[in-house]
Amino acid sequence: MSDYDVIIIGSGPGGYVSAIRCAQLGLKTACVEGRETLGGTCLNVGCIPSKALLHASHMLHEAEHNFAEMGLKGKSPSVDWPQMLKYKQSTIDTNTKGIEFLFKKNKVDWIKGWATIPEAGKVKVGDDVHTAKNIIIATGSEPSSLPGVEVDETTVVTSTGALELGKVPKKMVVIGAGVIGLELGSVYARLGAEVTVVEFLDHITPGMDSEISRQLQKTLKKQGITFVMGAAVQKTETARGKAKVHYKLRKDDSEHVLDADTVLVSTGRRPYVDGLGLEALNISMTQRGQIAVNDHWETSVKGIYAIGDVIEGPMLAHKAEDEGMAAAEQIAGKHGHVNYSVIPGVIYTHPEVANVGETEETLKAAGRAYKVGKFSFMGNARAKANFSGDGFVKLIADKETDRILGCHIIGPSAGELIHEVCVAMEFGASAQDLAMTCHAHPTYSEAVREAALACGDGAIHA
Ligand code: FAD
Ligand code: NAI
Repeated sequence: MSDYDVIIIGSGPGGYVSAIRCAQLGLKTACVEGRETLGGTCLNVGCIPSKALLHASHMLHEAEHNFAEMGLKGKSPSVDWPQMLKYKQSTIDTNTKGIEFLFKKNKVDWIKGWATIPEAGKVKVGDDVHTAKNIIIATGSEPSSLPGVEVDETTVVTSTGALELGKVPKKMVVIGAGVIGLELGSVYARLGAEVTVVEFLDHITPGMDSEISRQLQKTLKKQGITFVMGAAVQKTETARGKAKVHYKLRKDDSEHVLDADTVLVSTGRRPYVDGLGLEALNISMTQRGQIAVNDHWETSVKGIYAIGDVIEGPMLAHKAEDEGMAAAEQIAGKHGHVNYSVIPGVIYTHPEVANVGETEETLKAAGRAYKVGKFSFMGNARAKANFSGDGFVKLIADKETDRILGCHIIGPSAGELIHEVCVAMEFGASAQDLAMTCHAHPTYSEAVREAALACGDGAIHA
């Protein structure tokens, strides 16, 4: 048993970042993790392994589609799946080991095992009860289930199983055209699987700017992914390592069946609070099963905080990290803050999709007057040279004040480009501020500037 200033439960991006910041602020800190390795969903079965597979499969796609035109001739690489999984695992290992190193460096104790909170100020792990002035719950999320769909993580899989398949399936059905479905669907389509995405709504990526969403769907279709829209999945059946997916089209209630070697269920995630003992503690929850917190990330029980996927807001690693740092600062008596209106989101398909702030839809709903500056990557020399002319930047600014309200990008390195707009928004910049900032040539970033110019007197290369 030990006494701590802070014990953090969960070592995902929320938990580990919070632990490091707590220790940097002079607090005696421990982090409890039930998994064998640190880093949570993100490092072990989320962001990092999925991006490794996206990278490898994108390289194959480039070799198959663009090498010859650039004068790079020769046999295209073939897929060595076990080796690709090894590469993915080594990426995970270096990152999880990196967190272990950072814990040692910052003197954060890693308590191994699953934690419960018997009462405020106490954390029980196995037979040991540790005391802590403050507890931060950062236990993350898990895939949500779908009635009639039984996940076995072999034939019917969540993202976790999809990152570990025994082989590349011939036919894959993806249920849900959200972020996971499109990223992992892209991976397997590039590796040669016939991928069909079945989506309940009439559009993909709900919540995203509708123009970008349409463009992304069009591009993914060109890459060979089939979409069945407006379809409610009824059930899946499995036999001898194959599956059938039964769905009804919402427009006419007609029933259909798809055959698959693998079914990926990617219909959202839900907060993970199992075994913490929250009910006995009387911690308030939201209607959606998230832990309710105040502006300082404190729950309804004094001294117990919660951050990341387990609370309200986008389920994103960087949102969890920001909350982790801010909660640590609040506990240390500082003024930790998260600006929820400037949290970027990125989908790592090819091309990438990135967004921040308001969409035209949210502004229309709020009755706020806005203007849009749009610029196609077809007018960007670097993008054209790199076979990346598909896509555009859309900058949205207040009609009266010109202040930037949001940005939506589909195109090369969108996930990197979005950050100049995030910084501009944090500084309350106008579209003109961005338009007057010199951008190096030839870069993809020039497309962002051109979109800003288009908010005013007009883009130059449009
Ligand atoms: P988590 O990362 O879920 O970590 C929680 C940790 O708490 C886990 O390790 C768990 O074992 C531990 N834990 C739970 N209960 C206990 C307990 N009682 N005792 C001890 N330990 C416990 N987000 C992005 O921003 N970018 C991406 O590219 C991205 N890609 C993703 C790809 C996939 C396939 C998935 C599934 C998710 C992806 N996400 C991505 C989302 C991202 O992983 C999550 O938003 C992020 O991990 C949330 O961090 P967290 O710290 O709240 O929780
Ligand atoms: P999601 O919420 O992004 O998408 C779920 C999709 O499934 C939606 O389009 C929804 O309409 C559809 N759906 C729901 N029920 C359905 C049904 N019965 N039949 C057919 N379709 C149905 O959820 P997803 O993709 O599982 O991702 C979970 C979370 O993980 C996301 O919130 C995201 O924040 C995070 N994540 C982030 C990534 C990133 O930042 N690049 C990558 C992967 C995950």
